[in-house]
Amino acid sequence: MKREKILVTGGAGYIGAHTVVELDLAGFEVVIVDNFSNSTPDVLDGLEGITGKRHHFMELDCSDREDMKMLFAKHPDISAAIHFAAYKAVGESVEKPLDYYRNNLDSLLCLLYEMTKEGRSGGLVFSSSCTVYGQPASENLPVSEMAPLQPATSPYGRTKQICEDILTDVAKASGDKLRAIALRYFNPIGAHPSALIGELPRGVPQNLLPFVTQTAIGLRKELSVFGNDYNTPDGSCIRDYIYVCDLAKAHVRAVERLLEKRTGKGGEVEYFNLGTGVGLSVLEVVNKFMDATGVDVPYKIVGRRAGDVEKVWADPSKANEVLGWKADTPLEDVFKSAWLWEKRVRRKL
Ligand code: NAD
Ligand code: WQD
Repeated sequence: MKREKILVTGGAGYIGAHTVVELDLAGFEVVIVDNFSNSTPDVLDGLEGITGKRHHFMELDCSDREDMKMLFAKHPDISAAIHFAAYKAVGESVEKPLDYYRNNLDSLLCLLYEMTKEGRSGGLVFSSSCTVYGQPASENLPVSEMAPLQPATSPYGRTKQICEDILTDVAKASGDKLRAIALRYFNPIGAHPSALIGELPRGVPQNLLPFVTQTAIGLRKELSVFGNDYNTPDGSCIRDYIYVCDLAKAHVRAVERLLEKRTGKGGEVEYFNLGTGVGLSVLEVVNKFMDATGVDVPYKIVGRRAGDVEKVWADPSKANEVLGWKADTPLEDVFKSAWLWEKRVRRKL
């Protein structure tokens, strides 16, 4: 039987690479595109190490119309796309809003132009974010897809909201030629158990877990915990940390749903929260990481970080029921995977 061909934009990135592994396991043929603006070609070697094969790859810029034309000319039989390619650093987006709007919006637009061309049809999975919910009112926690969206607090967040709107309009105009699912990720963490792929931030990590693992290995002196005076049980912020391999599996379910045409009727975009349903505080993360790995993580409490949401975690029941997916990897294994990856990257294995 012919295997369906799935395009993965940003497939050399953190979540994209883990998703390539799961697509491969599920028997799909994968086409990866990336411009390495936030990743390196080594990731393709890591993927080969895990899957035993070299997937189709094109180095190109998704925000370039000609590049995207070339891609679809070479692979006209793409059945569905998962669109990860975007810039994602919240702080940087405040300093360089134009770069964020251009890259994140143009990438989606160029992809949509190709996918909706005469004679084409297909499915699109879009990487959205829990950032669209801002700080939900306490009666809306855990947050479901029905919760009202809040004005974004950064240009990055705004690109996700605008992209969701673009998707809604384009899917509607296409009838069911373009079927679309937007996945709203909570906080992805961890690495593939092989430690051949994982998260590799540039410079000083902004996200919690990479800072924890870099402190544990001695690259950073201590972790700064941003605030212990929030209205939470231990005073530090609460998030929903989801294992990247669990997150990756949800993409396979979403693609299957699109290919089986179980969604997208009348041009409706479907939205799913991808989280565990469990909120963890910053201090809980640090303590559980130390318990799981036996490694010490020195930390100090400092002031709040501007723009931080106090507490948010997912109600993932829609994804659990409709996609038949659940994030179920034990946290201890997740932390161990992040630690193994850090050690491999620093050649301390
Ligand atoms: P990442 O930076 O590791 O991966 C993105 C990949 O896209 C990188 O390899 C980058 O080189 C590539 N890329 C960016 N712009 C491109 C372009 N114009 N053309 C081709 N390639 C391009 O990020 P990630 O953590 O894997 O995130 C993937 C997606 O998920 C992003 O859309 C991000 O906004 C979204 N998301 C991430 C998180 C998170 O915490 N990591 C949370 C919610 C949503
Ligand atoms: C988690 C918690 C920090 C670093 C960001 C984006 C969001 C989404 C996920 C893409 C917070 C605390 C962190 C540190 C700390 N990305 N922290 N010391 O802020 O939930 O979300 O990534 O869509 O859009 O905003 O994740 O990992 O930065 O922080 O105390 O050195 O850890 O204050 O409470 P966040 P994060």
